Amino acid sequence: MERIAIGKWMFAIVVVALVAHDAQADSRGDRFRPIGSPQTETGGQTSARNGGATTQPQPPRATEAPTGFDNTTNGYLDQGPAFDQINEDSVVAGRSFNDNRFVFEEVETVADGLGPTYNAQSCAECHQNVATGGASQVTEHRTGHLNGDAFFEAPGGSLIQSRATSPDIVERVSVQDDIRTFRISTNTLGAGYVEAIANTTLLAIRDAQPSSMRGTATMVAVLEADSASRVGRFGWKSQHASLQSFAADAYLNEMGITSPLFPDENTSSGEYIGFGTPHDPTPDPEDDGTDIVAFADFMRSTKAPSRGPITADVQNGERLFTQIGCATCHVASITTAAPGTRINGGEFTIPAALGNKIIHPYSDFLLHDIGSGDGIPLLPTPELAGTASQIRTAPLWGLRTRNRLMHDGLSFTYPDVIRRHAGQAAAVTSRYNALSSTQKKSLGTFLDSL
Ligand code: HEC
Ligand code: HEC
Repeated sequence: MERIAIGKWMFAIVVVALVAHDAQADSRGDRFRPIGSPQTETGGQTSARNGGATTQPQPPRATEAPTGFDNTTNGYLDQGPAFDQINEDSVVAGRSFNDNRFVFEEVETVADGLGPTYNAQSCAECHQNVATGGASQVTEHRTGHLNGDAFFEAPGGSLIQSRATSPDIVERVSVQDDIRTFRISTNTLGAGYVEAIANTTLLAIRDAQPSSMRGTATMVAVLEADSASRVGRFGWKSQHASLQSFAADAYLNEMGITSPLFPDENTSSGEYIGFGTPHDPTPDPEDDGTDIVAFADFMRSTKAPSRGPITADVQNGERLFTQIGCATCHVASITTAAPGTRINGGEFTIPAALGNKIIHPYSDFLLHDIGSGDGIPLLPTPELAGTASQIRTAPLWGLRTRNRLMHDGLSFTYPDVIRRHAGQAAAVTSRYNALSSTQKKSLGTFLDSL
């Protein structure tokens, strides 16, 4: 496992320019440029119907994905032993939803590889509200600067880790890095369904959008599949397409724990503080890849966020939301690819629990320039410079669990949020502004039901 990963790693360095969540672009290969064009995702039976007038057996109809903030499985993994009976000695990573939830919530220590620079001690510290895997108010900090048109990340990467295991190595923001942003923790409940959306589905949503509002699909690397290309969908910049890749990225960049997909320790503002220095007693990779898969499988077995009560006013508000064009970006319903479809460069086959499911994410998972961009590109490479001014359409499912909105968590009311919708959303915003105050109230009631 480890050897294969190291082989992959060297290959990645040769192909280079990799970058994904944290930065350290040119000296470290922790971010990968996708190779090739997105592959055709085949193998599953589609739910498309051919008019009905046929004797051929009909593929199964898509069904609604289960929802709830209840720490119970969507059926992908067994629920497993009672959660409160699981402890550090009895946990078996990968065995069940409850075991993987335990791993997701587990507080890591320096002996496990935590740090030397990090943001928090467990995934659940930032993904917990109102059930494990949800969002939270925790923000992280990214910085960099422009030289002419070229973006340069802060030394050691645009992500400024806010904690360290020693006062000597806490990262500081340098004066020259005057592009600065917060990014708030997003929801991961229902993420397995998002991963199971076919590339072609996201591209079809894009192609159906009017040109003035058309989103950008990012092609990103699936790290566990030799950087195979897939349409990005996770994170504020849609910087990942696979939950295993995102989990490995987060384990390193949020917690300082290296794994076969991200074997190099983070620096402190560019200074090496990894294994072999007094700051890091743990050889790399600190996780052999087991935890990464447990995190990914935990998220894959979570239910989608549920809705609040659907009243007549909520329905009225949703009609207005669709009518004025909010739903052009905040897409209400998407059906996942069929069970058996091979995705993530062939590394994951969609199981029955995740395939052919209808979800209501209220997002197209594409990037848009609505004038709220944070100035930080997906990767500091010329071809991705445009992503500096773009942000992924925030999925609105679970909105009623969040009270700090937009990528920076700095908008608190719907009027404030909609005021920040300019650029590609300007026409929709002026239609919103033209609504009566009763209509605006209904629209708000709808948003409160998400
Ligand atoms: C310090 C807080 C923090 C910790 C700890 C953390 N995350 Fe996150 N997570 C975030 C933030 C912030 C984002 C959005 C980042 C971005 O897009 O730039 C995010 C985004 C994600 C996403 C993308 C979801 C989506 O569609 O937007 C996944 C998946 C994820 N995290 C998984 C994990 C896993 C697994 C762990 C543990 C290994 C973890 N995170 C630990 C803060 C955290
Ligand atoms: C052109 C695409 C587009 C249109 C049209 C659009 N949005 Fe958005 N929306 C976005 C993007 C992109 C973000 C994330 C921006 C950011 O975080 O900086 C967002 C964020 C939001 C958020 C914040 C969610 C969160 O979790 O932080 C809400 C609420 C929202 N939009 C509501 C609406 C409403 C209501 C309308 C119609 C009046 C609308 N949007 C129209 C693209 C769009």
